Amino acid sequence: MTIKAVVFDAYGTLYDIQSVASVTEQAFPAYGEVITQIWRMKQLEYTWLRSLMQRYADFSTVTRESLAYTLEALGLSHDASTFEKIMDKYLHLDPYPDAKATLAALKESKRAILSNGSRNMLAALVQNSGMVPLLDAVLSVDDAQVFKPSPKTYALVEQALGAGPDEVVFVSSNPFDASGAKAFGFKVAWIERVTGAALADETRDPRAISPLAMFKATRLRPDPFGFDPDWTIGTLSELPSLLAGLRMQ
Ligand code: LAC
Repeated sequence: MTIKAVVFDAYGTLYDIQSVASVTEQAFPAYGEVITQIWRMKQLEYTWLRSLMQRYADFSTVTRESLAYTLEALGLSHDASTFEKIMDKYLHLDPYPDAKATLAALKESKRAILSNGSRNMLAALVQNSGMVPLLDAVLSVDDAQVFKPSPKTYALVEQALGAGPDEVVFVSSNPFDASGAKAFGFKVAWIERVTGAALADETRDPRAISPLAMFKATRLRPDPFGFDPDWTIGTLSELPSLLAGLRMQ
């Protein structure tokens, strides 16, 4: 099987968006977790709303608007420097521990990011995390002026890399993104960051469901659209052997 490119989602896939909890907690003690979850949920919601309204604004604007919403909704007053300090973490997110080794091991294919992130946010993040030498391309939906899962965003891959949809393995942990990529025609590896069994365990006591468990239940389990991934993997580190197997076919 010819696989020309392995294309990664950024936020939640190569980079751990939960790592913002270190700064949200520092800024607002005891609120860190709830801010982190509402912020991410509203951030994605705003991408979908702006796409439907045909009022694109880049991901940095969407990320600011969703953080402002979150702090306002929780009644947390703040000054500009606190706000900017939290925002800055989006340019310094922690990569998942296996992200760099996985990219290094995939060097026989073209390796790219295709993300909702704006060009500037992605350039800073990739630079700050030392991933520049591990990637052949960093593609932003800025070039389509609409967010995932619009097919126009996935079409950027062929324009940039010359790889047709069936020559691309697309990797995402975000179920909406995995569905969108599969509906577009990519081969899809979905990273199951929380299993159904682990989540059932976390929600066993319904009176004590944490904001993080609520986020996982809302945004990390597969959606029932029927665009199922080709492979479900537990971590990025499973990709090199998966790709090696495909090359032999
Ligand atoms: C991205 C969002 C989906 O990186 O996390 O595109």
